[in-house]
Amino acid sequence: MPTTAELMVNDLSVQFGGLKAVNEVSFSLEPQTLAGLIGPNGAGKTTIFNALTGLCPVTGGEISFNDNKLTNQPPHTIARCGIARTFQNIRLFNNLSVLDNLRIAYHKNRRYSLLCGLFRSPRFHREEAEITARAKEALDLVGLADKAEHLAGSLPYGEQRRVEIARALMLNPQLLLLDEPAAGMNPHETQTLLELIRQLRDNLKLTILLIEHDMKLVMNLCERIFVLDYGHLIATGDPRSIQSDRRVVEAYLGGSRP
Ligand SMILES: Nc1ncnc2c1ncn2[C@@H]1O[C@H](COP(=O)(O)OP(=O)(O)OP(=O)(O)O)[C@@H](O)[C@H]1O
Ligand SMILES: [Mg+2]
Repeated sequence: MPTTAELMVNDLSVQFGGLKAVNEVSFSLEPQTLAGLIGPNGAGKTTIFNALTGLCPVTGGEISFNDNKLTNQPPHTIARCGIARTFQNIRLFNNLSVLDNLRIAYHKNRRYSLLCGLFRSPRFHREEAEITARAKEALDLVGLADKAEHLAGSLPYGEQRRVEIARALMLNPQLLLLDEPAAGMNPHETQTLLELIRQLRDNLKLTILLIEHDMKLVMNLCERIFVLDYGHLIATGDPRSIQSDRRVVEAYLGGSRP
């Protein structure tokens, strides 16, 4: 039986002044797909993530997730619908512990009132304990349980990227967007990341869309690949068909452009 798409992107456009960074892009994702979004520098990949998470205005088209219209909704509404992300440039508080970086991510969802917090009510203590337990669970999922008390800025780059993933998991997402999760990693760290991403999909039943320049990672991991070039979606398919697609090869080798 065919599954229904979870994420639907129809004719999405994002224009910055005279530049159409994303130009009428349409694609969909079915639940629990591991998908890749690739393309040369400046192709519009991060802009698509920004549009999906409410961080840049959509100038045309529509985004829906589980039938909720998300076009131009604020980031917190989108997060509440089940979409979380990591950033191309790591955004951690370097001088806070790893655990506190995760706790902060969840704090805007706290249910106790400011007064409860000020007077340290039983409700405050109960919810704080729940948030800490959730943060430890998220760290465990990314294999960093033993780094909870370390300062985020003191961790090697590869581990900081995994903290970012754990922080996104704090929001209990259904769709996880990863912007260049392997950037700056050595081959061993990249292989560990590949296994982690697979486990997250399998164990948490997540749908994952990742932007990545590491073609070995993308081709080994992703079941479906979308290729962007100058804001246009030029190919969609499985790794084999993408690798032999003439337009994709031309985009990467700098051949003739559409
Ligand atoms: N806020 C913005 N204002 C103006 N132009 C922008 C803005 N954000 C992105 N752009 C431009 O839009 C285009 C697409 O940028 P984007 O960051 O989405 O590319 P990318 O595919 O993620 O590239 P990379 O692989 O280098 O990260 C680029 O030309 C970029 O300069
Ligand atoms: Mg980018």
